[in-house]
Amino acid sequence: VGHIDDVQELRKTEPTKIPQRFVQDMSERPKLAAMVPSPNDIPIIDLSKLVGSDRDEQGRQIMQLKTACEEWGFFQVVNHGIDSSVVENIEEVAKDFFMLPLEEKQKYPMAPGTVQGYGQAFVFSENQKLDWCNMFALGVEPPCIRNPELWPSKPAHFGETLEVYSREIRQLCKNLLRYIAVSLGLKGDVFEEMFGEAVQAVRMNYYPSCSRPDLVLGLSPHSDGSAITVLQQGKGSSVGLQILKEGKWVSVQPIPNALVINIGDTIEVLTNGRYKSVEHRAVTHKEKDRLSIVTFYAPNYEVELGPMAELVDKKNPCRYRRYNHGDYSKHYVTNKLQGKRTLEFAK
Ligand code: SIN
Ligand code: FE2
Repeated sequence: VGHIDDVQELRKTEPTKIPQRFVQDMSERPKLAAMVPSPNDIPIIDLSKLVGSDRDEQGRQIMQLKTACEEWGFFQVVNHGIDSSVVENIEEVAKDFFMLPLEEKQKYPMAPGTVQGYGQAFVFSENQKLDWCNMFALGVEPPCIRNPELWPSKPAHFGETLEVYSREIRQLCKNLLRYIAVSLGLKGDVFEEMFGEAVQAVRMNYYPSCSRPDLVLGLSPHSDGSAITVLQQGKGSSVGLQILKEGKWVSVQPIPNALVINIGDTIEVLTNGRYKSVEHRAVTHKEKDRLSIVTFYAPNYEVELGPMAELVDKKNPCRYRRYNHGDYSKHYVTNKLQGKRTLEFAK
């Protein structure tokens, strides 16, 4: 990312005319004017009830979870039990990082074809349109995927804060996967056993305000390559995340202290398409900046995956092939974000 492609730098010059590289082709523009404000009907899961001892409550949450995964591919988790200081601290160090001078952030450059470091991911050609977003991404677990040179020395405590946050989010992912398995009628530990030493990576997205949100995308439409993804939206951020529901883009209204969860391609494949990895995107706002902190939780790269035998039968013939998750991940990060196209790899 040079000076001219760094969105925060660009915004400082307050362009009234958006550089051509960021202006989406007509068919890709977000058509914000056509969007009706959506009621927040994205399912809400109460984690304290899901993991609690009241069987009736638990059963209801499991049903809710099942509907969420089948019909939405997205839900919000409330009462997740993660201390508010953990949530606030990660937001603070993320914000502080993005506010550093460009020269400082560029000490941690994202190499092309990788998603670690600072810059714009998924850019493969000079002609490709750029998203109105700066990213900072790091591999966290297992330790062998870490690149210590990319862990920033500023702001102070960034590393420790990310460690603490990641431990909490990892536990949340394990809990959710347990109940996702249960909601499918499977043993609670099937995913944990299958995934081995799970891969966990974090990506912080900073979307500066944009004078022409109708022309640009914050993040191009895509589905995630993870098993599940946990998304934290910065306090006071504008609405920005949208999901594709029955052909229409629906905004996810942030709920204070909730985390947004979505099903990734891996779970779609494992469940033979029963649980959906749903296309989503981010749009920008005319006045407000937006920060999101996204954790991807996925199997170890060594793992071979395919639809689970329990979910394949005469009525539900096998829809995906078996493949190595490391190969899939490589395919994912070396291609442009483009709807659910990366999942074609599994067909
Ligand atoms: C993502 O899909 O990775 C991020 C979307 C968002 O910022 O809400
Ligand atoms: Fe995503």
